[in-house]
Amino acid sequence: MHNGKAGLIGMAAAVLSLSLVAGQPSKPTQVPMNPPAGTAIPEGPMGDAIRLGRKIFTNTPQNAPNHSGNALSCSSCHLDEGRAANAAPLVGLWASFPAYLPRVGRVGTLEDRINGCFLRSMNGKPLLPNSEAMRGMLAYIWWLSKDVPVGAEVQGRGNPPITAPAPADPVRGKAVYAKACEACHGADGQGSADTPPLWGPRSFNLGAGMARTSKAAAFVKANMSALGGSDPLSAQEAYDVSAYFTQQPRPDFPTKAKDWPSGGKPSDSRY
Ligand code: HEC
Ligand code: HEC
Repeated sequence: MHNGKAGLIGMAAAVLSLSLVAGQPSKPTQVPMNPPAGTAIPEGPMGDAIRLGRKIFTNTPQNAPNHSGNALSCSSCHLDEGRAANAAPLVGLWASFPAYLPRVGRVGTLEDRINGCFLRSMNGKPLLPNSEAMRGMLAYIWWLSKDVPVGAEVQGRGNPPITAPAPADPVRGKAVYAKACEACHGADGQGSADTPPLWGPRSFNLGAGMARTSKAAAFVKANMSALGGSDPLSAQEAYDVSAYFTQQPRPDFPTKAKDWPSGGKPSDSRY
């Protein structure tokens, strides 16, 4: 190949125009989710930090008592220690931050995003950025993500959005709840020793992603739909049951008025 300088510039221009079609950044490359085995945590100080992060993640009230404000652990929603596809896995997140966060209207670090869930999903207090606890959380996420190239995204990131044919109906949802959820989460939604609460003072607050019907429906369809022993829920049933349980009483999020400062507030936001 005899690419002169002009040829290289031409190639660079072609690549640029491909990745900037209509000003849109190109979609991140998708890679399969393949985190290291839980038994492969290294020995030594790095391993200790990773293990601390995993401990906080999987039993938050006990291991971060000053920051947890409810009965949930991070892994109550980020299932299987943050390794489950379609349950907002941690795997790969080291490669995806910093990123623009529309809810707070600025570019946020991974620390900011972790603290977003502490404030909202845990109804708690943020970790100090330089604390041992935050170093541990970052070490755990780094380790789960270490084979994912920067800028790539794992297949199964987030809770994949679903749509339903009809508007969500909490009255129908109450019946779905009795059939498919109550056995574990309780008729009063307060859970049990092994099952987290879905509403009330020990649950996530109004500012949490899970308080939005569409986000809850996505999580429920992918992760809670067939647990009750009945047939898997349809998308409509997932929306209906989510409209029911998300709208039960739950803690307020005091700084909610500051969310979506640049507009774009979703229609199912609770405020
Ligand atoms: C009540 C459920 C719930 C709990 C508890 C929870 N989260 Fe989340 N978390 C979510 C939801 C929902 C999302 C958004 C997923 C999406 O966008 O599809 C999310 C997103 C995240 C993200 C960004 C994921 C991504 O793909 O960009 C991080 C990081 C995160 N949570 C960390 C934590 C940590 C750390 C804890 C514990 C302190 C925690 N979460 C507790 C529900 C929860
Ligand atoms: C077989 C028992 C079981 C059934 C049935 C079940 N869940 Fe769950 N659910 C769990 C457990 C256990 C967790 C926590 C996951 C973990 O710790 O691994 C959970 C977590 C959740 C969470 C996130 C944590 C929280 O408390 O907010 C939501 C939301 C949820 N379930 C909703 C539902 C809905 C809605 C239904 C019915 C469609 C349902 N679940 C059916 C056992 C169950």
